[in-house]
Amino acid sequence: MTSHDEDPEETEDGATAASAGGDHAADKGVVRRERFSGGPARAFLSSLAADERIFAADLAVDRAHVVMLAEQGIIGADDAAAILAALDDVEAAGHGALPDGEDVHEAIETAVIDRVGPAGGRMHTARSRNDEVAACIRYRLREDLLATVGTVVEGRETLLDVAATETETIMPGYTHRQPAQPTTVAHWVCSYESALARDTERLLDAYGRVNRSPLGAAAFAGTSFDIDRERTAELLGFDGIVENSMDASSARDFLMETSATVTGLATTLAGLSTDVVEFASDGYIDLSDDYASTSSIMPQKKNPDTLELVRSRAGDVASGLSGLVTTLSGLPRAYNRDLQRATGHAWDAVDAVHEAVPVAVGAVATADWPAETLEAAAGDGFATATGVADRLAVAGIPFRTAHELVARAGDLADGGNPGVEAIDEACREVLGEPLEAVADVAAIESALDPVENVAMRDSRGGPAPAAVEAHLDRTREGVAADRETLAGRQKRIEDAEEALDAEVSSYV
Ligand code: ARG
Repeated sequence: MTSHDEDPEETEDGATAASAGGDHAADKGVVRRERFSGGPARAFLSSLAADERIFAADLAVDRAHVVMLAEQGIIGADDAAAILAALDDVEAAGHGALPDGEDVHEAIETAVIDRVGPAGGRMHTARSRNDEVAACIRYRLREDLLATVGTVVEGRETLLDVAATETETIMPGYTHRQPAQPTTVAHWVCSYESALARDTERLLDAYGRVNRSPLGAAAFAGTSFDIDRERTAELLGFDGIVENSMDASSARDFLMETSATVTGLATTLAGLSTDVVEFASDGYIDLSDDYASTSSIMPQKKNPDTLELVRSRAGDVASGLSGLVTTLSGLPRAYNRDLQRATGHAWDAVDAVHEAVPVAVGAVATADWPAETLEAAAGDGFATATGVADRLAVAGIPFRTAHELVARAGDLADGGNPGVEAIDEACREVLGEPLEAVADVAAIESALDPVENVAMRDSRGGPAPAAVEAHLDRTREGVAADRETLAGRQKRIEDAEEALDAEVSSYV
């Protein structure tokens, strides 16, 4: 945009488009001349306080819209300059200084008209609060989504660092909360990093649908003005437009998708929290005091409260998601004011997880893992049994027979862990032959040792230290790629902000 002096577009009756009807229409300087302005339901209707979250977004959306209107010759460059200057002033005064209004859109418009006079009323040409608010929510939510991705990526990096130092730290592994097979702390940590990697993927995927511009849809039915929807989308750093104008002003599935995605993330964190709470109870982890709490009456207590609070965030976001789905279900086309109440659920959801991620990760990263206790417990409940059966199967015994044999050895040990003697006895019972006749006794003995038992399981993604090292190498590449994607999206937003600033400066 180099020249701002084109005349506003002529309408059929020869009047300039935005001034048709005359500037005196806004002679009170108040949006919509106080129609429906009072009454007991005024505060009930208003979202102005909650809209603080989209104050900056609305200013950006206003600026992009005004620049586009001027470029298209729909409003004059002088009016655009006056409106853009007023928006700077409104921004400097802050959300708290806005006049009363049903929402931030109306209040900003009133503030602009207060400063510019009736020509300020041209700002709302060729749009509605319906496309405006949808654009504002998407504009702000994309920032929140990227911030959340940022904390998750950082959390994953931290978890990988923890894993790298604990590849040899043997610990018990469970299924059904029963001792199952020995594993390592690193393998456990990586399991959550893997889940967080998918959460990252889902957040980035949701971002692609959030970052679309509904602007130009107007109330729902488009406009007769010669607007340029791609231009406002570009000025605001959106990746494209939501094409159908009825869809654009009504759609909130992007809120639902974000909330669902975030609920998935919260569920991952809740699982990690429960593990840590149980590890703490078993004496398998020693949380830093920074992530623990105590009792007001029981002096000996050190409680994993922070993790319990992380876990509870899953409840917050799931209830928000359910509220959102309930609000959105069955709404008719096009815009309905119910949508005003939908937005808050998504803000609450992103805030809930954004705060929880660093706490969950911090608790793990600062904890001590008592290696001796963990290793001693790793074989409890004959958790080495599967490894022993595997070794018998390697020696040529069908796995099902080996399974039966090892189970019999477990019975013979009567609650304790069987040694090679019990396995030998079971072998004679089940196969009619001594152990040394069917397998390498030393190999069986080593399978009974939790450390060896873990080292054996070196299949890809398994817990053997070498397998975890290889996994860590691959995973670090994945995190780095996500970090790059994140940086690219942040850069695109920053570039758009700079470009919009430059456009605005060329008028003001
Ligand atoms: N505050 C409203 C919201 O959040 C803005 C749109 C109002 N539109 C309307 N037709 N009443 O949805």
